[in-house]
Amino acid sequence: MDFNLLIILLSALSLVSSQSQYVSPDHYFINCGSNSDTDFTGKTFIGDENRPNFSFSGGRKAVNNNAAWEIYQTARVFTKKSSYELEADGNNTFVMVNLHFSPFVYNGIELSTSKFDVSVSGYTLLSDFNVGNSTVIKEFIIPIGLERKFRIQFKPTSGSSPAFVNAIEAFTTPSELFQHGVLSSHISSVGKIGDMDIISSSSYAFNPVYRINVGGDNIDVDRDILRRNWTPDDPFIVEPHEAENKTFAGTPNYQEPFAARYDAPDDVYKTAKWLNPNSSVHNVTWNFEVKKNVMYFVRAHFCDIVSPGLYSSDDAFNFFIYNNYKEVIKPGDKVSALQVPFYYDFVVDSVGSGFVNVSIGAISGNSQPVLLNGLEIMELLKNSGVVDTWNDEKSSKKLYIVAGCAVGGVVFVLLIGFLIGFKCRKKKAVGGTKTDSNVVPSYGLSSYTSMNVDFSINNPSPIPNLNLNLRFHFTDILQATNNFDEKLVIGKGGFGKVYRGTLPDGKTVAVKRGEKGHGQGRPEFVTEIMVLSKIRHQHLVTLIGYCDERSEMILVYEYMEKGTLQDHLYDTNKDDEKLSWRQRLEICISAARGLHYLHTGSDAGIIHRDVKSTNILLNENYVAKVADFGISRLDNLEESEMAIKGSFGYLDPEYISCMKLTQKSDVYSFGVVLLEVLCARPALDNMLPPKEANLADWAIKQIKDGMVENIVDPYLKGEINPNSLRKYLDTVERCLKNTGEERPNMIDVLWDLEYALKLQQMVVDREPYDDSTMNTSLQLSMSMIDRLPSKCNDDDSQVNDSGYPSDSQVFSQLKIEDAR
Ligand SMILES: *[C@@H]1O[C@H](CO)[C@@H](O)[C@H](O)[C@H]1NC(C)=O
Ligand SMILES: *[C@@H]1O[C@H](CO)[C@@H](O)[C@H](O)[C@H]1NC(C)=O
Ligand SMILES: *[C@@H]1O[C@H](CO)[C@@H](O)[C@H](O)[C@H]1NC(C)=O
Ligand SMILES: *[C@@H]1O[C@H](CO)[C@@H](O)[C@H](O)[C@H]1NC(C)=O
Ligand SMILES: *[C@@H]1O[C@H](CO)[C@@H](O)[C@H](O)[C@H]1NC(C)=O
Ligand SMILES: *[C@@H]1O[C@H](CO)[C@@H](O)[C@H](O)[C@H]1NC(C)=O
Ligand SMILES: *[C@@H]1O[C@H](CO)[C@@H](O)[C@H](O)[C@H]1NC(C)=O
Repeated sequence: MDFNLLIILLSALSLVSSQSQYVSPDHYFINCGSNSDTDFTGKTFIGDENRPNFSFSGGRKAVNNNAAWEIYQTARVFTKKSSYELEADGNNTFVMVNLHFSPFVYNGIELSTSKFDVSVSGYTLLSDFNVGNSTVIKEFIIPIGLERKFRIQFKPTSGSSPAFVNAIEAFTTPSELFQHGVLSSHISSVGKIGDMDIISSSSYAFNPVYRINVGGDNIDVDRDILRRNWTPDDPFIVEPHEAENKTFAGTPNYQEPFAARYDAPDDVYKTAKWLNPNSSVHNVTWNFEVKKNVMYFVRAHFCDIVSPGLYSSDDAFNFFIYNNYKEVIKPGDKVSALQVPFYYDFVVDSVGSGFVNVSIGAISGNSQPVLLNGLEIMELLKNSGVVDTWNDEKSSKKLYIVAGCAVGGVVFVLLIGFLIGFKCRKKKAVGGTKTDSNVVPSYGLSSYTSMNVDFSINNPSPIPNLNLNLRFHFTDILQATNNFDEKLVIGKGGFGKVYRGTLPDGKTVAVKRGEKGHGQGRPEFVTEIMVLSKIRHQHLVTLIGYCDERSEMILVYEYMEKGTLQDHLYDTNKDDEKLSWRQRLEICISAARGLHYLHTGSDAGIIHRDVKSTNILLNENYVAKVADFGISRLDNLEESEMAIKGSFGYLDPEYISCMKLTQKSDVYSFGVVLLEVLCARPALDNMLPPKEANLADWAIKQIKDGMVENIVDPYLKGEINPNSLRKYLDTVERCLKNTGEERPNMIDVLWDLEYALKLQQMVVDREPYDDSTMNTSLQLSMSMIDRLPSKCNDDDSQVNDSGYPSDSQVFSQLKIEDAR
């Protein structure tokens, strides 16, 4: 098929280009707190006050004329949360971030005593960090998703001296520095405990702690294209005399798809420690002290620079991690030439040992030279899950744009995901395995760990790193839900089951697990994540995370204790769960606010498409939030689908007949919800006589016929103030008009509902009031347009602390009496 051919060509092209065309980057190298450029370790660092093509917020310059290097003579000093905003050269790649700290005394302040946090896109790189009295360079590798912009944020610990930084390097690495979609063995001191794809299915940044040029010398940053510093292995080897240094005079023979030039400098592959076959010992061990109970990424570099001739496929030696995990290294299986560099990746839990121990060992009777050329050990930094709030920096506008694009980008994202997935599969097939996945799980969650990742079109690879902040591990989900304990099921929907879960920090969450073959599929899953991870509003349910590991589709939401609005209207036997009229109005107002924000909060506007009483959820205080954005989409998108989506009983007649989908379709559905709230019956009830089955049709007729008492929930009898009811019914009627043009906007609906609430409250306050003669809607709408500070009151600051929708700021500016 032509399409397949295209994909192959595309992926082949990108393979070639990414391996061969990486050039030493020229940005960003930043001389912080300075207006002059300076050369340092082979790069020109640009003064950040000097025509910066990046932005930064806050901070003052500080000068120390005593520093030996010009670059350390200045620093930028931060007394409050501040950041540099930079942009990666591509998406789905990595950025190497090197931070230079060289403390001095500034205005009598000892920077050596400062304590501060540094974070990038939800990764806490340094926490309560204190430099002390020496110059320190910290290195990190950060995954970049589709959002190429990232911010390096500095935050002084309260009560400490200000945070500071002398220089920043942040440059884009080849996107294949780490492999997407490839499983690495996950090892602890007991042996192998599973397989992990740390790049595609989880959210980790890397903090290199050891970078070892085994059998060789120091390699400085200016001799490595990725500016890494490599050090000799001698301090870590357990029995130094058992191993010999080996050096190769030629150039390593780089071959695809094995290690590329940028994976490690030539000098790493040109030197090795080698176990002399005449030696009495059978293995050589290195011990690296690390933190306890932390997960490390370990990359072992090999290049056989000893063998005199070509391999036989039996030539092999052992590579051990701790005592119980053994990887048999067979160079002849992988490469058909000499001096070809390759590497193996592992994920290692340090558990309680506080060491990562690796060994190489001979296999008796085998003539394969036993050697190791390089070793990298990096701490894996899990994403904190704290989403950067955009409030602290300039642009809330930008958020809207992103949100708007998010939905449109879905198809596109899937295609990218597919490309990545394909590339990986190709690599695996062609190159044997860079990270050999020996697929037999040893213990634990074997039924999951043995699952192979399937990269077929129907099951595209994990979503690219767009929302790394929100990505959860499957094991975390298992823990949170007690292995999907049936007792914790709180709901079942078209999507699958919903569980009540508990996160390690004690927070209760709702975990929605998609089931294969159920209504909603991957596109809905992706849309939901893209919409919700970008939009935050008090009255839209908050997405805490998601998990797409092992082709799972799991969404983690804030827990809404009181369930759906529908639960409190009908089908409930418990009267204490029934809602008062006032509560119902407040819930409708909250939901209207959420929808209004959805419609106008982004430039293009988002249509929910599935507004119904089961998609309005209530928290413990009965505050309503709109949920389920799986089929939502942009307002201005061309309608190209043939299938009508939504729920029967709520569907806009204009949408059904003309396929015309607008925000007014949501207004129609919301009108149906308003009727459900008033009448406490389902939108569609086929048990009733045909004339009554459809709530909207039936209720509108009753209202027109002046038979309102027939439809009002008997539970509310005598409670509703007639003026409040009149206003409410008027709103419902307008929402349910046949054409979108005749229907009000959500802001008008919101307004009318607030007015209905006000009228209801007046009864309670015993204020005599009669609005029977005026057209409140018209007058109030007009004044609202005049007085609204912005298009909407989506700003959380306008909502009071209790979270309860009381009088909005807009409303409180108006006096009912004025409107008379
Ligand atoms: C920033 O400026 C430097 C030096 O002027 C330049 O080399 C680099 O390409 C620029 N970076 C971007 C992202 O424009
Ligand atoms: C991601 O990168 C690809 C290839 O460079 C580019 O075509 C695409 O526009 C990028 N996507 C986004 C969302 O930036
Ligand atoms: C650094 O040195 C200065 C003076 O020598 C001393 O006052 C300060 O306490 C030292 N800071 C740390 C963190 O050791
Ligand atoms: C190996 O080489 C390193 C660096 O040149 C040197 O420090 C070390 O002593 C050598 N070790 C052995 C066992 O020869
Ligand atoms: C191993 O020992 C044999 C016999 O003593 C010797 O000929 C050979 O050169 C030694 N090999 C190495 C690599 O040292
Ligand atoms: C690793 O080596 C250290 C130091 O020799 C030792 O104390 C520790 O027990 C070893 N850990 C394991 C799991 O083998
Ligand atoms: C060291 O070699 C012996 C065999 O000679 C083997 O049994 C043992 O597991 C090896 N230990 C390590 C840590 O490699």
